[in-house]
Amino acid sequence: MKKSLAIIALAAAAVNASGATPTYLDDSRPLEERVEDALSRMTLREKVNLIHAQSKFSAPGVPRLGIAELWCTDGPMGVRPEVLWDEWEQAEWTNDSCTAFPSLTALAATWNPDMAMLYGKSIGEEARFRNKSVLLGPGINIYRTPLNGRNFEYIGEDPYLVASMVVPYVEGVQSNGVAACVKHFALNNNEINRHTSNPIVDDRTLYEIYLPGFKAAATEGNAWSFMGGYNLFRGEHASYNPILMNQILKGEWGWDGAVISDWGAVHDTRTAVTGGLDMEFGSWTNGLTNGASNAYDNYFLANPYYEGIMDGTYSTDELDDKVRRVLRLTFRTAMDRNRPWGSMGSDEHVAACLEIGQEGVVLLQNEGDILPLNPERKMKIAVVGENAIKAMTVGGGSSSLKARYEISPLDGIKKRLGDKADIVYARGYVGDTNNEYNGVVAGVDLTDSRSPEELKAEAIRAAKDADVVLFIGGLNKSNNQDCEDTDRLTLDLPYGQNELIEALAEANPNVVVVNISGTGVAMPWKDKVKGIMQAWYLGNETGNTLASLIFGDVNPSGKLPYTYYATLEQCGAHALGEYPGHPGTDQLGNEVMDIPYNEGIFVGYRFTDKNNLTPSFPFGHGLSYTDFSYGEARVGRKEGTNEDVFTVTVPVTNTGNRVGKEVVQLYVADLESSQPRPVKELKGFRKVALAPGETRDVSFEVSNADLSFFDAATHSWVSEPGEFSLLIGSSSADIRSGVNITLLPR
Ligand code: GLC
Repeated sequence: MKKSLAIIALAAAAVNASGATPTYLDDSRPLEERVEDALSRMTLREKVNLIHAQSKFSAPGVPRLGIAELWCTDGPMGVRPEVLWDEWEQAEWTNDSCTAFPSLTALAATWNPDMAMLYGKSIGEEARFRNKSVLLGPGINIYRTPLNGRNFEYIGEDPYLVASMVVPYVEGVQSNGVAACVKHFALNNNEINRHTSNPIVDDRTLYEIYLPGFKAAATEGNAWSFMGGYNLFRGEHASYNPILMNQILKGEWGWDGAVISDWGAVHDTRTAVTGGLDMEFGSWTNGLTNGASNAYDNYFLANPYYEGIMDGTYSTDELDDKVRRVLRLTFRTAMDRNRPWGSMGSDEHVAACLEIGQEGVVLLQNEGDILPLNPERKMKIAVVGENAIKAMTVGGGSSSLKARYEISPLDGIKKRLGDKADIVYARGYVGDTNNEYNGVVAGVDLTDSRSPEELKAEAIRAAKDADVVLFIGGLNKSNNQDCEDTDRLTLDLPYGQNELIEALAEANPNVVVVNISGTGVAMPWKDKVKGIMQAWYLGNETGNTLASLIFGDVNPSGKLPYTYYATLEQCGAHALGEYPGHPGTDQLGNEVMDIPYNEGIFVGYRFTDKNNLTPSFPFGHGLSYTDFSYGEARVGRKEGTNEDVFTVTVPVTNTGNRVGKEVVQLYVADLESSQPRPVKELKGFRKVALAPGETRDVSFEVSNADLSFFDAATHSWVSEPGEFSLLIGSSSADIRSGVNITLLPR
């Protein structure tokens, strides 16, 4: 071993002496040639060092060969501020305040892949400018339960919507020479017990619901890295799960990227070696307490692995595959001399933050067309609720940011009305007064010593005396709300908001609720208020975004990316499945929480449709300040293809008096199937902007793949001959047009 290493070293030196650029450093050479050349020059110690962290967020590269370090950063909604070498605490740099983009659920609610591309490109520019090679996002875990603390970081309940939005986001990020790191692969659908959750999922559910977003990211978006989840799957940890990583991701999907562990997700060497993990980060390794500083040589894929190879326990086959993948990641990012330079806090990023938020806010209800409010009309507005003043860019876990600024809803409303503003603000309740996370402080001091009774009385007085009440409440980024590592404890709004909203509605007939949250909440008062807006965490431009929609500068066009349940019993995970599960054991006999996903494929609207349940608001729902009508659907067969491809076209008209965007949705219903299938499934959508009176033909192509279900017995997708309905609608519950097709036996 030593002799060959010496020869390699001499060969490298010789090449350098000749002045020729070594292949691995030559950008003009094919990637795989560079990878193999670099691999051939590395010592065993250098290979092992390459695949695990050297600091909280970096890995060492190969200094001797000039192979660059890999620097990672959170998160999916903005570039995290710099932390100390080996700590979570702030490095207190003065140049790392970022653009805080809207939450990914807000992006999902735009139903606009162009917004996903804009989002990815913009956040990728900021990561690039901060010289980061891997952006630890997007998160795309399916919204199985509304209680999951991290729903706000994800893209909703439907695999087709997730797949459609994740691809352009990944492409946008990677256009900067920064790797997306799609997470958390897979089945990390709750935060409670996230290190020991062991989802028990059948193959059909896995392939039809929980994998499509990841498959699209890997095979269409060509994501350069994936992050494994903390949870287990069928008894093995996801970050090095042979089924997920070797069989599916790298086998069936032929993916050539690098799998990065979640921080602290690795628990032993053997399975980390054989289970398809390529880089280990954030471990607190055997024999060391949590957070032991500078324990990097003790990582499971560090000395224990090196010694295991030296004593013959492990071959170098797995190691070389890991090294190839990390080298590929490095050459695609840090060592790509042609990648752009990025930018940070640019006007373009501010504009992107605003545009994405404006396209993502969902107008759920607008009785009596109470919205938009006329900014020119003299009116007294009572603004009530803590979320009108609370900063939301801090908190919530690893996605927390040090934003360059954050305009609160109240400030945005005041700014929009200018000297016409006749606004009274009443807090209404005191919820979470914290405005600090990881050493970053944002927003105003929220302390308030008044009693709940005083606060409520003040709000009711303001409501009685106003022309209209804007209640701006919802959830926040504190524990057991929209926050990593905890789940919500109830579907209800916290801090007595339900009672307060009812009291406000008693005091004034013109109440509009702006609910700021990353996930659905129960709305027992929805028939007692006129307007309801589902606003997300909207980042820097929160106040400006909301004001532009409330006062009609912008016409809302968002659609719900998940079902807005009235009660938890309307959700399959709670009605049929288990949550948060029951005690079980993993393959090593360790205690885990088994979570049988008994609801199977019936997640979200698939469950409410099947059981004829009426949620507060259905998947895909969202109103506009104009109206749209749909004509008759026309269907044709696409010729010249060796499979059944149907085209379905529907004319859509803007029948109102202002420009608006409509998300035209295509659902497929299998009318005769050998397997239980959902009543309908989303298989297409188009967001179209229409002027008043304008009609546009909106067309979709429907292929066998769109008509198929996953057959676990044959481990393949099957489209059975027979009748199908192609349903076109404005939401999953508002079908406007449709046509039947017959799939002929092949
Ligand atoms: C966290 C999260 C992950 C994040 C990582 C680094 O625990 O699960 O999403 O990227 O650690 O902060």
